[in-house]
Parts: sequence; C-alpha cells; structure tokens
Amino acid sequence: EGEFEAERTDNEVKVIAHRGASGHAPEQTMPALNKAVKMESDWLELDIQMTADGELVAFHDDEVDRTTDKEGEVGDYTLEELKELDAGSWFNEEYPEKADESYEGAEILTLEEIFDEFGSDVNYYLETKSTYLNKDMEEPLVEMIEEYGFDEKDNVIIQSFHQDSLKEVHELNESIPLVQLLWWEVDEETGEKEEWLDITPAPSEMKDEDFEEISQYAVGIGPHLEYYDGTEVIDEDFVQRAREHDFMVHVYTLNEKEDMERLMDWGVTGIFTDFPDRLHNVLDER
Ligand code: G3P
Ligand code: CA
Repeated sequence: EGEFEAERTDNEVKVIAHRGASGHAPEQTMPALNKAVKMESDWLELDIQMTADGELVAFHDDEVDRTTDKEGEVGDYTLEELKELDAGSWFNEEYPEKADESYEGAEILTLEEIFDEFGSDVNYYLETKSTYLNKDMEEPLVEMIEEYGFDEKDNVIIQSFHQDSLKEVHELNESIPLVQLLWWEVDEETGEKEEWLDITPAPSEMKDEDFEEISQYAVGIGPHLEYYDGTEVIDEDFVQRAREHDFMVHVYTLNEKEDMERLMDWGVTGIFTDFPDRLHNVLDER
C-alpha cells in the first residue's frame, strides 16, 4: 500500500487542529473551526458522537458538563435539545484573557453543518468517540462522508481508540484512511496497565507483529507523548519503528514549541495541537 496522499502536501509535518483551534476559541464550535481554517491547518480534528435521535455531532466529552451550561450525557439529548446549550461561555470563564463576547451561546455543531460550511476546501480528521456509548455510528458516518464525496477526494481521515470501530469502517469503505489512536496508561494504585483501550503492549515492547496487525486496516497511528504525570511514553526509536512499518505517525496533543521541535526531529509526520499557529511558526523556522 502506498503512502496516503495527504502526506504528500507541502508541510513537512501535518498541522492537525485539535478540536479546531481550541487554544484560541471554544473547542469544536464555529469560531474554533474558522480560526483553524484561517491558520491553514491541514486537518480539522473533530470528535464525533451521536445524539439521542441519531444525529452526528462534534463533541469531545461523554458528558456536556465541562463545556456547556447543562449537565448529563451527550447521547441523552436530542439534537434540538443540544442546540439550546451554550457551548461557548465556559471558555470565556475559563480563559478570561482570551474571552470574546461572540463566543457566548456558541452552538454544538452537527457534522453536516460543518461539512456544509467548509466543503471540500478543508480536510476532516474525524474520531469515532466513546463507541461504548455511541453505538452503531460507523454506518451513518461513512454514508455521510460518501454523500459529500469526501472519501473519493481524500478529504477525510477516520481515527479511533476503538479498534472494532476502525475495522467496521474499513469494511464499509476501505478507501477511507484510518488512524489507530493509542493510549497507554498505568493504574495509579495497582501499577498495572489499564485494560479499557489498551490494544497494544507498551511502546518499547511493540513487536513487528503488533505493528503488522494494525496495518491490516490502518495507515497511521496516533500515540500520545506523555502519561498524565508527565513521564514520556514514546521515544524516537518507537517513532522510527512505526515509520519503518510505513505508518503515518500523528502525535497528540502537543502545545509547546520545544515538544513540537523534538518530536519532528524524531520523525513524526503530523501533530495534533490546540495552537495550529504555533505549529506553523515552528515549521517556518525549520
Ligand atoms: O484524537 C487525538 C486526540 O484528540 C485524542 O485525544 O481525548 O483529545 O480526543 P482526545
Ligand atoms: Ca480526538
């Protein structure tokens, strides 16, 4: 299999706007997406979930509590109910130095609204999120991508922590490039690896077979750099091995210039960041 076409665009390392330019405006709302587009991001990263009435929306957390004025699980709301929520004011309260009145009352967006707004001028990096809650989202998601022709135009990547979800997408439409997100975490109390999403051994213990298994359906991997306590989980050797297996390596989520520079030196091919402008500056300096 050849390298995915999007890796052949100009930037040495792909700029993936994490939840839009979420360091500058409320995540996954129109202001954050508009800023990400203005900042010439290669990809708009969006977490996709399903409403109670089966609509696909861009939203990260399982609950609406952190980033809206209401409480409860996203999937318990109908689209009409979700549209009443204010998904912008929390940002102004949390980041007064970045606050902007226009963010107040920002809406949760459907994927359709986002596709209609930006069309095929931008690229979408869509995550099937929390599939234990958002059951059977793969089929409507793939159908919508096909409806817009984004599978044929290479406008979309689908990413997930959930291997089953990616395999299902691959069966539905094998032309959509897939990225397997990776998460390694050790339980703070037991010191054991947490099992919930742990589809691979620790990075240093990854065997060729582990990479090969993922390459059956995915063209990229998305590892994180650090554990919650700040210790690093991947290193240059891991990135190089993944590259030798022809994977795109897109690391999440880097917001510090020094980390961006260091990971580029390791050979990553894309970086998820809340600050696409900052990543562009780093790229320009190279
Ligand atoms: O999708 C890459 C990265 O966004 C994964 O972490 O929790 O921000 O979706 P999260
Ligand atoms: Ca994500």
